[in-house]
Amino acid sequence: MAEQIETLLKTSTVYRPTEKTLSEAYIKDYETAYKESIADPEKFWDGIAKELEWFSPWNQVLEWKYPWAKWFLGGKCNISYNCLDRHVNSWRKNKVAVIWVGEKGEERIFTYAELSRQVNRCANALKSIGLKKGDVVTIYLPKIPEQIIAMLACARIGVIHSVIYSGFSAPALESRIKDANAKMIITADCGYDRGKSIDLKKVVDEAVSKSPSIEKMVVVRREKPGNTLKENEIDWEEWMEGQSTNCEAEQLDSETPLYFLYTSGTTGKPKGVVHVHGGYMVGTYITTKYIFDLKDEDVYFCVADPGWVTGHSYIVYGPLLNGATVLTAEGKPDYPNPGRWWDLISKYGVSIFYTTPTAIRLLMKYGEDWPGKYDLSSLRVLGSVGEPINPEAWEWFHRVTGGDKPIMDTWWQTETGSILVSPLPCVPLKPGSATRPFLGIEADVVDKEGNSIGTGGGFAVIKKPWPSMMRTIHKDPDRYLGYWNNIPNCYTAGDVCHKDEDGYFWFMGRADDVVKVAGNRIGTAEVESALVSHDAVVEAAVIGKPHKTAGEMIKAFVILKQGQTESSELIKNLKAHVQTELGKIAVPREIDIVTSLPKTRSGKIMRRVLKAKELGQDPGDISTLEE
Ligand code: WT7
Repeated sequence: MAEQIETLLKTSTVYRPTEKTLSEAYIKDYETAYKESIADPEKFWDGIAKELEWFSPWNQVLEWKYPWAKWFLGGKCNISYNCLDRHVNSWRKNKVAVIWVGEKGEERIFTYAELSRQVNRCANALKSIGLKKGDVVTIYLPKIPEQIIAMLACARIGVIHSVIYSGFSAPALESRIKDANAKMIITADCGYDRGKSIDLKKVVDEAVSKSPSIEKMVVVRREKPGNTLKENEIDWEEWMEGQSTNCEAEQLDSETPLYFLYTSGTTGKPKGVVHVHGGYMVGTYITTKYIFDLKDEDVYFCVADPGWVTGHSYIVYGPLLNGATVLTAEGKPDYPNPGRWWDLISKYGVSIFYTTPTAIRLLMKYGEDWPGKYDLSSLRVLGSVGEPINPEAWEWFHRVTGGDKPIMDTWWQTETGSILVSPLPCVPLKPGSATRPFLGIEADVVDKEGNSIGTGGGFAVIKKPWPSMMRTIHKDPDRYLGYWNNIPNCYTAGDVCHKDEDGYFWFMGRADDVVKVAGNRIGTAEVESALVSHDAVVEAAVIGKPHKTAGEMIKAFVILKQGQTESSELIKNLKAHVQTELGKIAVPREIDIVTSLPKTRSGKIMRRVLKAKELGQDPGDISTLEE
């Protein structure tokens, strides 16, 4: 970690905003705006909330009973109404809301009016099969517009959506359906990955056969002729057909749950992070607007999948709350060739482009000729998310896009709902730093006791509640408390961070047993338990190891049962087993067979020691090590 900090801090170049960027920006003076916002955060958030539409106003901005927060108490609203009706009732009615491009090059375009009609029909269709406020719907779809439509339809009638990334395997899907007690699931026959069709229905069938809470399944059938459906399975088209395009949005209390989103932690079971309509709407709305400086003329392209939080907040909710035109594309950045995204940018005149360090590093490998082939002059503001961006990747991204577009390195988490530390376009940039806290956010770097470190390294924390924070972990309030009990009087994010003399934040990675593979969060405990569930394994320990494009990769150390012998066949089987249990993203790249693991006297595996050994570093304090 220390070495990483060193390399990051060596970069001293500061990129100041161009005159054009400054003249366009909503916020031109960050320091003043920030000071004002945190002098009275409740006043700040109150003002922002008023930019949106509420059925009835709140009578209290915040109720804070440490660590439980409620925002906009007594207020009635609906996030789906604010994403759709607010625009349909304005000149934006026929403005393009979503441009979707499929992996095979298909294009589907939805104006706000059309998106609204589809969402209304879907909401009525949900009602027609008995779903009502408070019920949970699992959405397991590839990156197609139905994913967005289904989310907004659920929100419209107060149904809680639980979107599961379509790369998860059947057991992973099953455990998430069960935890949420979902009544129905919306899926598709297949997804496409580099031209290959992935059979999603098969995964869902397996998961649903063991999930008695599921009463109905709706299937989007992309392939013709469509696969045959069983009883209780409905074709999406048939389901939607004949439904009225009018379904009034429920007037919901601001604290009504909007969604559960499962994310990995340091112990086995994934956590169902709970977000609510009111505060989440306010947080995603204003961060999208100010950080990307989003204007009505912009074409906004975020490469995430709504299966992850970035897709929830910055493909669906944030941009649509702002009445933006959103481009979303199925498929990988280098398929059919490494010009894929640059081509889309030039074809649709994308002005805001939000991507990930992993994708940038992947595209870097193919060289500058690829971006060089396309007209990228429409770009105005760039973004990065998911993991620290190394200065080399930052500089490359900056250079190939013209050398004058600000890059917003946005730091946040599934739990935070919206971006908390990030530049605004007016902020001077240092490649590799997420720079400063967003308006209204009191972020800091502290030691274990919660003392501010001034400048130097420590733990990233948030000192006051904010509207889009998670409200709890579904069925596990103790795990929620853990975030606020770790370091006194603040929310602990789990990240190691360095603060420099300008108050700039340099996020260095996780302080806990969470690995970030290509920006995806994977708990080492989950991979370990998948490995141990294999017949040949008695014990496993998993660590994250630096990787050139993915940021980190998974490495596993495995102790075999007596009588088992090491072979390349066995390693292959172990990898396949993890893929079946969890999904492709969690498969260890390297597996070492070992005869013992470093443990504390109480029997806890010391992953820290394994990691240090693997990286040839000093393991630090090993006084608790048993042998
Ligand atoms: C973790 C949260 C935030 C949406 C996507 C991931 C890491 C995220 C950055 C960044 C350095 C970052 C942190 C954080 N992270 N963005 N700009 N710089 N690290 O959401 O899966 O909930 O993961 O991602 O370690 O804790 P997530």
